[in-house]
Amino acid sequence: MTYILESALKDWDLAEKRIFVRADLNIPLQNGTIINDFRLQQTQKSIDYIIQQGGTVILASHLGRPVQPDDEHSLAHLLPWFKERGYAIQFAESLDKAYAFTQSMHPGSILLLENLRFFPQEQSLDLCFAKSLARLADFYVDDAFGALHRYDTSITITPRFFNEKSRTVGFLVQRELSMLNTLLINPVRPFVLVLGGCKVHEKIALIENLLPLADEILLCPALSFSFMNAMGMFTGKSLIDPESELICRAILERAQKINIPILMPVDFLAADKTIHGPLTTIDAQSFTQESIGISIGPKTIDLYSHEISQAKTIFYNGLMGFQDRPETLHGTRAILQAMAFSKGYTVIGGGDTVGAAETFDFANKFSFISTGGGATMTYLSGQPLPGIEAIIQQGMY
Ligand code: 3PG
Repeated sequence: MTYILESALKDWDLAEKRIFVRADLNIPLQNGTIINDFRLQQTQKSIDYIIQQGGTVILASHLGRPVQPDDEHSLAHLLPWFKERGYAIQFAESLDKAYAFTQSMHPGSILLLENLRFFPQEQSLDLCFAKSLARLADFYVDDAFGALHRYDTSITITPRFFNEKSRTVGFLVQRELSMLNTLLINPVRPFVLVLGGCKVHEKIALIENLLPLADEILLCPALSFSFMNAMGMFTGKSLIDPESELICRAILERAQKINIPILMPVDFLAADKTIHGPLTTIDAQSFTQESIGISIGPKTIDLYSHEISQAKTIFYNGLMGFQDRPETLHGTRAILQAMAFSKGYTVIGGGDTVGAAETFDFANKFSFISTGGGATMTYLSGQPLPGIEAIIQQGMY
């Protein structure tokens, strides 16, 4: 499933119109302070365009997974970011207040809604809630790439209260799809996938979909342990997903049949007894009962860096190691560095992986950094994105 979509924003007359922009402003905050504004920056293009055209922006998003409204998850923490950049912005904690504001807003201003997940209806596909959001605006723009795989009401139902000519995707979603399509449609070869991380199920779907397109797959911890387990290799106390054994085996067999190499690490950085235990480098055959594989070892770093240097298209997802134990992040840094030196088309995705690229100052060295985590994986896995379906399917409520 690939979507080739252009935003209709530029076709609309936005002057004095109210435009509902569903964004993904789910960004890391610490004590109310923004730690990383990457997603905010990426949403700016659509917002700025609407403002330049004299429209007003009704900006809506979720933030985190609050069980009930709390200060920690309030989108009010984002107001200073907008004000410092000169945006005229107001904030509404309730939909009634939001509606009242929309009656007297100045063209070119923004109304930021409170965290949509403070309303339980946001995650219960509630038609009334969807309609209350829809009545705030004349047009609907989905620019929440990172949340397109979710069925939240504002993503899948609200757009259906606008007719097909009044709903579209934003510039961020358009760019994300087009950049990721470069991986899905005739990628320049050799195309190498570097995959790690803990969410084995998510990655397996992605491998299944990209296997016929890729020229080589380089597996990293923790994902590699489930495959090693499926091959009958002993991995000590390393994280594996026992439920994935059969599917991992089937993938390995299929890869062999169609002649796509799936490389496993030949050595590892391993901790002893617990993830906080002392670190050593061990060969793939040398796991003890107490070893916990954490990252790739130096021989694997050399091997994988070489493969990356030969590739023309590279996608990497899956942090290895722990942010609070920087000495475990060496393997992740090495992969990112090899990609940063590549002259090929390089794409990274996933919050932790992107965070590591920023920490190591490689963020501006890639062809594309996706704002999505789960959404990117879902799209690259060939599954439909409910947020896009809601925009492109015919009909309205
Ligand atoms: C993300 O950060 O991946 C998106 O904002 C989706 O968030 P969610 O996983 O809480 O739905």
